Amino acid sequence: MSVNMKTKYLGIELENPVVVSACPLVAHADTLRRIEQAGAAAAVMPSLFEEQIDRDESALADLFESTTDRFPEANDFFPEMRRYNDGLASYLKYIEESRRKVSIPLIGSLNGCTPGGWVRHARRIEEAGASALELNIYFVPTDPDETGEEVERRYVDLVAAVRDVISIPLAVKIGPYFSSTPNMARKLVGAGANGLVLFNRYLEPDLDIETLAITPKLNPSTRVELRLPLRWIAILRPHLDVSIAATSGVHAAEDVVKLILAGADVVMTASALYHHGVDHIRKLVEGTRGWLEEKGYCSVAQAKGSMSRVHAPDPAGFERANYIKAIVEFT
Ligand SMILES: Cc1cc2nc3c(=O)[nH]c(=O)nc-3n(C[C@H](O)[C@H](O)[C@H](O)COP(=O)(O)O)c2cc1C
Repeated sequence: MSVNMKTKYLGIELENPVVVSACPLVAHADTLRRIEQAGAAAAVMPSLFEEQIDRDESALADLFESTTDRFPEANDFFPEMRRYNDGLASYLKYIEESRRKVSIPLIGSLNGCTPGGWVRHARRIEEAGASALELNIYFVPTDPDETGEEVERRYVDLVAAVRDVISIPLAVKIGPYFSSTPNMARKLVGAGANGLVLFNRYLEPDLDIETLAITPKLNPSTRVELRLPLRWIAILRPHLDVSIAATSGVHAAEDVVKLILAGADVVMTASALYHHGVDHIRKLVEGTRGWLEEKGYCSVAQAKGSMSRVHAPDPAGFERANYIKAIVEFT
């Protein structure tokens, strides 16, 4: 009997649970077609950044020119966004054109951390034809006067502001650093999130000790990183009736399987596609199907969440007990 690979994400029925995570691969028309051909069920656009929307392109260019004379290092702090994407107008045009070229759902992505005027452009991503919107809240708190409660309020207000201007489903991509991730997840759902994308990989900067510069670093992920979303998805699944997407460290079909068992509705991947090429998507989908078949599951839905914290034979394994057991057993 063939396995039913379908899954639902943000209310959208998808052919299978493998989705391409927000990254520039999705923003090239030919690559997007290959992504579809290789069997991805959906793809997330690379982000449009709050900073990009807030200053129009020429203002940004002026800023480079006026500040770099006086502060050459300013270039490092105002990276040339045009190398990443061409700004709002071409972003919207790309979504519109892609809608005619591929049939998989295309999810727009906004990236920011302050509620403000830029948020109203979420509506334009919807009008361009995106099936859903992913809001990546990438915030690094540095002000000791800003309390944890205020930081959480910032997230909630931003989600509510975006929810207010769009009618397509909204997923919120967050990092793992909250005092109570389950409570935060519930607040985000209360503010209007239809799904959570777990987790943002914070890209820690490095220091160059010769030039004394702070250097941005994007190292591709490794499979070990998968354990962070794995644990939290297993813990959160029983408490959330919205969609959950897993991202970080998904490189092989076994990784997809683990995250589905923990309770993910979809599993996203980016680094692995840079490493192996986008045809690797086929291996992820077919490997997942093969595992489900071999173990006697008839559908993704049947496997989903069967190892979440409430269904796992040893729920404490996701909690403090795992830590104690791991250090005791280490040799
Ligand atoms: C080259 C590259 C660019 C990325 N750009 C974005 C982005 O624009 N917005 C975003 O939310 N995530 C972005 N990400 C993060 C990915 O969507 C993903 O969450 C992260 O890489 C973890 O998944 P992985 O382990 O499969 O790479 C990017 C990742 C890579 C490798």
